[in-house]
Amino acid sequence: MARKATNAVLRKARKSKSDEFYTVLSDIEKELRHYKHHFKDVTVFCNCDDPRVSNFFHYFSYNFEKLGLRKLITTCYKNQDMELFSRHQEDQAIFLEYEGDKNGNRVPDPDEIGIKRLKGDGDFRSEECISLLKQSDVVVTNPPFSLFREYVEQLIRYDKNFLIVGTWNAIAYKDIFELIKDNKIWIGVNSNRNFSGFIVPPHYPLHGTEARLDDDGNKIVSSNNTCWFTNLDIKKRHERLILYKKYEPQHYPKYDNFDAIEVSKTNDIPMDFSGMMGVPITFMNKYNPDQFEIVGIDRPLVEALTGRVSRFRIDGKEIYARIVIRNKDL
Ligand SMILES: C[S@@+](CC[C@H](N)C(=O)[O-])C[C@H]1O[C@@H](n2cnc3c(N)ncnc32)[C@H](O)[C@@H]1O
Repeated sequence: MARKATNAVLRKARKSKSDEFYTVLSDIEKELRHYKHHFKDVTVFCNCDDPRVSNFFHYFSYNFEKLGLRKLITTCYKNQDMELFSRHQEDQAIFLEYEGDKNGNRVPDPDEIGIKRLKGDGDFRSEECISLLKQSDVVVTNPPFSLFREYVEQLIRYDKNFLIVGTWNAIAYKDIFELIKDNKIWIGVNSNRNFSGFIVPPHYPLHGTEARLDDDGNKIVSSNNTCWFTNLDIKKRHERLILYKKYEPQHYPKYDNFDAIEVSKTNDIPMDFSGMMGVPITFMNKYNPDQFEIVGIDRPLVEALTGRVSRFRIDGKEIYARIVIRNKDL
């Protein structure tokens, strides 16, 4: 019930374009600890982040020396106010370039964080923000939900390394899935229930169990439909899924409308089946490109075959979203 309600909130955020979900520091720390070696001597760009309030800015500025960063650039969108929930009322925004601690106290003091003005509103697609993007090595942020496709497309176009938060559903977006299939983007370490939640504005419409207050009085909405997307290599991506089930036709029915077997749980992937297999999207959390090939996702595969958009069916009954994979070892 709570899950359904939370998904509805995230959907609403996408539709209303309010995009006001702010990332909790502990969720950033929990993920970033798996990427430390990627940050030595690099310029990090947080391009959807008011530097005065973003936990991404907080994380990178406080860990600047520990990570060995070269530079931290942060831009903020349509805002010059010193508050968390930007009202997007400004035509001019600000940005900041932090180059580490100068006075030796290992803390980013206000006078070390120079705030500069952008000419425009800080839109990540603007010429001046693209020019900052070009100077950067790794982009790390939680971008607006409503512009996720466009946001990723820009990162790919400029050939940037990135680690960003997105909705789990984005895996099935046509263009995002193509990138996943081509191993240009993958799922990070933490997803769904491993996220503790997002900070939302006090006025955000929430009911009952969906919201809680954290120790600092922030209103938190829990999220079980979220994950990290990245193109930075991580250990998880090289862990092999241990397969132990034997293929028995009676336990793995074939689809009516596609030549693949149904594997309803990732752990049930048979060890000895060399053909195509439909697996739930949660498989992406276990995907190792050396072990499996991603063939495609249900609807476009059926469309290419039959000319009709449909999910897979067994005895006429529709099966929920499936990714088609093949075992590379066989
Ligand atoms: C999901 S919130 C996350 C904020 C922050 N990155 C964080 O994780 O706490 C997305 C942010 O993107 C900003 N935003 C919306 N449209 C934008 C655009 N076109 N360019 C840059 N930032 C934008 C919003 O102001 C909002 O602060």
